[in-house]
Amino acid sequence: MACSTSSVTWQELLDGVRESFSTEQVDVDRLRTLMNSYQSQRSDWEQYALFDPHTYTRNLVDAGNGRYNLIILCWDSGQGSSIHDHADSHCFLKVLSGEVKETMYAWPGSGVSPSHSSTPTMEVTGSESVLIDDVAYINNEIGLHRVENPSHTDQAVTLHLYCPPITTCQSFEARTGRSHSCHVTFYSKEGQKVCSSVK
Ligand code: SIN
Repeated sequence: MACSTSSVTWQELLDGVRESFSTEQVDVDRLRTLMNSYQSQRSDWEQYALFDPHTYTRNLVDAGNGRYNLIILCWDSGQGSSIHDHADSHCFLKVLSGEVKETMYAWPGSGVSPSHSSTPTMEVTGSESVLIDDVAYINNEIGLHRVENPSHTDQAVTLHLYCPPITTCQSFEARTGRSHSCHVTFYSKEGQKVCSSVK
């Protein structure tokens, strides 16, 4: 499929992502353009949007032949992820419903924490609201982030593209910068609930 700035359907988005991974090369600009080109319609993805009242959920849409994962994340009001890295993966995030707040952090010990501090606190390097249909991108060179649904009333749904797929990542304590290895799991696969999401 030719990747242009005109809009694509949900199926064209899925097909276009798959086609992008027919070679080893990851074309970040092309993927970002493609994800931007889709305009969210609830009927396209609602079969994957399973919520849990206790934690945000990770719902696998496409395992991507082992080269990537397309995942729908469901954030009930106030739910958020921990501060985490992205292993060696590219992470694209597109908002399908509601809005999320992305807070970016420097790696602990990278020299931006106050020098008088005996334990490195996590240094916020930026924060932005990602609105419906917007696409954000991060990798380990850019830094760390956490995502949250800041609304007290509304749910949020995001589409994430990870390439290569992430199976483990590091999460960081905001106060100390201490890291823990996390095994990431799916709440559902192709619309079928499998287990609880933990991070
Ligand atoms: C995020 O905060 O970017 C979502 C992390 C995840 O994939 O669980």
